[in-house]
Amino acid sequence: MSKKLNIGLFGFGVVGQGLYDVLNKTQGTKAQIHKICVKDRSKPRSLPSEYFTFDKEDILSSDEIDVVVELIDNAEDAFEIVSTALRKGKAVVTANKKMLAERFQELFDLQHRHQAPLLYEAATCGSIPIIRNLEEYYDNDFLSALEGIFNGTTNYILTKVFEENKSYQEVLRAAQVLGFAESDPTLDVEGFDAKYKLCILMAHAFGVFIEPQFVFNYGISKLSVHDIQYAREKNSKIKLVAHGRKHGEKLAVYVMPQFVDQGHLLYNVHNEYNGVVVEALFSDKQFFLGKGAGGHPTASAVLSDIAALTYDYRYEYKKLHQPINIRYSTDLEMKVYYRYSREEQLNRLRFNTILERYESQSYRYVIGTLQLSELIASEIEKEEGVFLVQVVV
Ligand code: HSE
Repeated sequence: MSKKLNIGLFGFGVVGQGLYDVLNKTQGTKAQIHKICVKDRSKPRSLPSEYFTFDKEDILSSDEIDVVVELIDNAEDAFEIVSTALRKGKAVVTANKKMLAERFQELFDLQHRHQAPLLYEAATCGSIPIIRNLEEYYDNDFLSALEGIFNGTTNYILTKVFEENKSYQEVLRAAQVLGFAESDPTLDVEGFDAKYKLCILMAHAFGVFIEPQFVFNYGISKLSVHDIQYAREKNSKIKLVAHGRKHGEKLAVYVMPQFVDQGHLLYNVHNEYNGVVVEALFSDKQFFLGKGAGGHPTASAVLSDIAALTYDYRYEYKKLHQPINIRYSTDLEMKVYYRYSREEQLNRLRFNTILERYESQSYRYVIGTLQLSELIASEIEKEEGVFLVQVVV
């Protein structure tokens, strides 16, 4: 039996305002925004002041609110709000991937202890309904891989840099203005945001909870014209790819740039779009494409979660209950392109084999193989004047 839900909304930024718009434009959604809790008292708002409160208790302690929708930026504050709401038995919808990935086990336990649903489709890959599909469509299939472009900002930057020859800084600023980037864009460009999403999806795809601090992420901030030129010469592009792949009983999970050629499904994922490739035993390879960032696309996923609550939907974490023998492992050999500036930087990484080496006055690189565990131990992400791209064979 469906019911009309009263929403208590936290945050009225790009996605919060997007949610207000999409709720107004959709006919028949049995939900309405009742109160909005915001932080900044001086900011001009597009809605009448009666909507707003500065006291979170006006939502968390209100009997009139059925659903708490959390769309704020700060992960710690978000955890406070979400955990309090769940303890009170309220249904919660959130888009906060950092909070979810970092506090996944606690939030999982709270949902079960208090029998309160927590939905978060908007936290991973914007408008792409990947969590719902993993839960409901692939629940009985055996997945072998889930990978793709999980960050809109970096894909927007790479598209503009590769296809329109724009400068990195110029397009990063544009991504901020368009509302794609996080308030701290380091989370986007260094691959943290994609990693948080990947960790969340690993729980739904493989039933494995992985703490993001143990997962390797390497971003695009050190990309140079040499790397772009190299990729072009190989008829390829560089994309920031999040990987979750089963190798026997081992699950390799990491985020790093990758060369993709024209035959690759991710080659034509442009701008703020995300692309998710799912590989499974029975359904084989499938591809999801959709906008990964922006107010309305992200709000569409929030809206879908709210609508799902009207028929009492909750995640069952189906893969957790299946006898899948799999564990997170960093024991994986990978092939990489490593551009470096000074000879001693080559020794920063212990390669198993060097397959190709190029050296001129202004440009040096090697192509070689090394272990994922070695990449993590090397802390190569801290090194300036180098860049790393995976070469998938
Ligand atoms: N900053 C994120 C991105 C927003 O660019 O993908 C959506 O999660």
